[in-house]
Amino acid sequence: MESETFEPKIVAFLCNWCSYAGADLAGTSRLYYPANVRAIRVMCSGRVDPAMMIRPFIDGADGVLVLGCHFGDCHYLTGNYQTDQRVRIVWEVLRQVGVDPGRLHLDWVSAAEGARFAEIVEEFCNRMRHMGPLQASLPSGPLPYDLPLALAIAAEIVEGERFRWLLGRLRELREQGSVYGERIDAARLEQLVRDVIAEEYVRAGVQVLAAREPLSVKDMASKLGLAARDVLKQVAYLKKRGVLDIYDVRQQSPRYQSTTRIGVDDLG
Ligand code: FES
Repeated sequence: MESETFEPKIVAFLCNWCSYAGADLAGTSRLYYPANVRAIRVMCSGRVDPAMMIRPFIDGADGVLVLGCHFGDCHYLTGNYQTDQRVRIVWEVLRQVGVDPGRLHLDWVSAAEGARFAEIVEEFCNRMRHMGPLQASLPSGPLPYDLPLALAIAAEIVEGERFRWLLGRLRELREQGSVYGERIDAARLEQLVRDVIAEEYVRAGVQVLAAREPLSVKDMASKLGLAARDVLKQVAYLKKRGVLDIYDVRQQSPRYQSTTRIGVDDLG
């Protein structure tokens, strides 16, 4: 989608020691870059949690930039390696909910690279202009079009226990293997990440929908673009955990509602 008048809103997380200094240099060198960027300074790009990458989209941003020091230059040694892993896993979450992962961009800018900062911002801004407003985009995944729902599910996935466990163990799994001492190659690890996110999509989807309004399994499955049996499995599991409860029974089908308020704030 392309719009000549559309000016994207972009949120950029800049690490204090390199990228923010690079942005500063671009400014003091009077280099041109689009004014579409709202910069948020963080001490290290590794400080940018997956939830912080999703939140700007919920709040109306069309694109999110994460900029840190080049590998080997992070002032906290491995912060940018963690950022790299986090952005990759958030790309997978966005893909799962049907939002183009190209709307989240990761790059590296040193304090001496004012020109590089200006170039990255301009290129990303042009990419967003070409892609068009997020609010008008169509999801490419199984989720029938409902952007607030897609983003609320993405936010719920990245807050989930399994996602957090996986995120915390990615490096260990890659370098040391599983608890059985089994080495896990990159392709298998990528598949594991995709599988966990696909399962978490069902869990998060059920939780977010049931926080919105009481729904039957069939209705949830239709809203999530999933088979009823997959939703039923999650509903039974969440009910056992006390996260869901039966609200009422209509036409012999129980309708479930959340016992918590997960996702409600994001759904408006
Ligand atoms: S201090 Fe810049 S990425 Fe860590």
